[in-house]
Amino acid sequence: MTYIKKAVRHRARQAGYKRIDTPMFENRAIFERGIGEHTDIVEKELFMVNSKQKSDEKSEFALRPELTASICRSYIEHGMQQLPQPVELYAIGPCFRHDRPQKGRYRQFHQYDFEIIGLRDPSLDAQLIHVVRMVLDDLKILSRLRLQINNIGTAENRVAYIEALKDFFVGKERNLPELDQKRLGTNPLRLLDSKEEDTQILLKSAPKLDQFLDDESREYHATVLDYLEGLGIKYEENETLVRGLDYYTQTVFEYWDENTGAQNAIGGGGRYDPLIEMLGGKETPAIGFAGGMERTAWQMKQAGVMPPDKDQMDVFVAQLGPEAKRTCLDLIAKLRNKGVHTIGALGEASLKSQMRLADKFNAKYTLLLGQVEVKEGVIILRDMAAGKQRKIPYDKAVPEIIKLIGQKNLDTYTIKDHLGE
Ligand code: HAM
Repeated sequence: MTYIKKAVRHRARQAGYKRIDTPMFENRAIFERGIGEHTDIVEKELFMVNSKQKSDEKSEFALRPELTASICRSYIEHGMQQLPQPVELYAIGPCFRHDRPQKGRYRQFHQYDFEIIGLRDPSLDAQLIHVVRMVLDDLKILSRLRLQINNIGTAENRVAYIEALKDFFVGKERNLPELDQKRLGTNPLRLLDSKEEDTQILLKSAPKLDQFLDDESREYHATVLDYLEGLGIKYEENETLVRGLDYYTQTVFEYWDENTGAQNAIGGGGRYDPLIEMLGGKETPAIGFAGGMERTAWQMKQAGVMPPDKDQMDVFVAQLGPEAKRTCLDLIAKLRNKGVHTIGALGEASLKSQMRLADKFNAKYTLLLGQVEVKEGVIILRDMAAGKQRKIPYDKAVPEIIKLIGQKNLDTYTIKDHLGE
């Protein structure tokens, strides 16, 4: 997770995005209005937050199922329209969706999220996709994924299309599975990416969304695709991709696993020009993307990508007797301060069982200090892999360990940035 975060932060900074953190829960209306009352996320997956005093009242708050609606709420509330536009923001954090947990689907999961708010231009759509692509490339999983892209037109285009779709299904409702019959009434567009075979067969002869797009949307889409080609980004046009949230218009896209497809998309996004107005702000175009961190990490594991293990123990300090223990505390502090990963002085166990512990912690070296060694001013240094040990002067313990580990492998923590003057 740390490795993913670093890649996201790095690419975000390169492209001028600033970090934003929003609260874990919001007024439920933010999600209901933005994501849509009849979407799976709002209808079935919102976790409500109740206070103990008001537990019998309708909940006012909900845990965030995603980051976009909260970021837009924040954009409005903090007057970010006064800033130079577009405002580019990124966020990383936990989200919550109530669902039956299964592989790649958790009730608490993490998203990394990019948003470009305040300007509408096909070049921004292409730039956003490019930033996401750089992250996936840094994480060495790009070749396992396929970019799916579609343009779902304006809200008016979709109203006309939905009418045509409903007309088409008149008299055919009974052939639809129960869930899709319900969707036909509440959110007919969701039929397009239904996983039900019967629905998909019927849809083959149904009207297609792209027949209802206006010229501007078509042109917009063609320009986005042209820019993607210019950037050398491969994509697959997917006319059934509609995404499960109501706030989208025009460009929508997802990154799919090349084998499992729509199941467990590793991320998705799109243009959501109406959202800020739906939340009570001025008309403000925007586009964004969110990736699922657990699914990203899973892809990395499948690809055999191993982030470096930064938690390796260098030294275990074993001691016997009160005087030795006291001396060790200082030694441990000095080693840590030099950047050596050190644990020790853990209890009153015998030297033998401390050595066993050192082995279990996978320490490269052990420093042993008993009462005799304290008196003589020496310490025993044991190389755990070689199984060899020698006595060295106590004062040489820190420099000797540093020599063995290598200066470049020390984990020194310095705050590079100065805090003010
Ligand atoms: P979304 O497609 O709902 O889009 O979620 C984005 C990603 O979050 C998914 O592709 C998936 O990787 C991950 N994800 C979603 N639900 C779960 C879950 N239950 N368990 C594990 N991972 C999950 C959005 O959330 C939009 N806000 C994206 C966006 C940003 N659109 C514009 N800006």
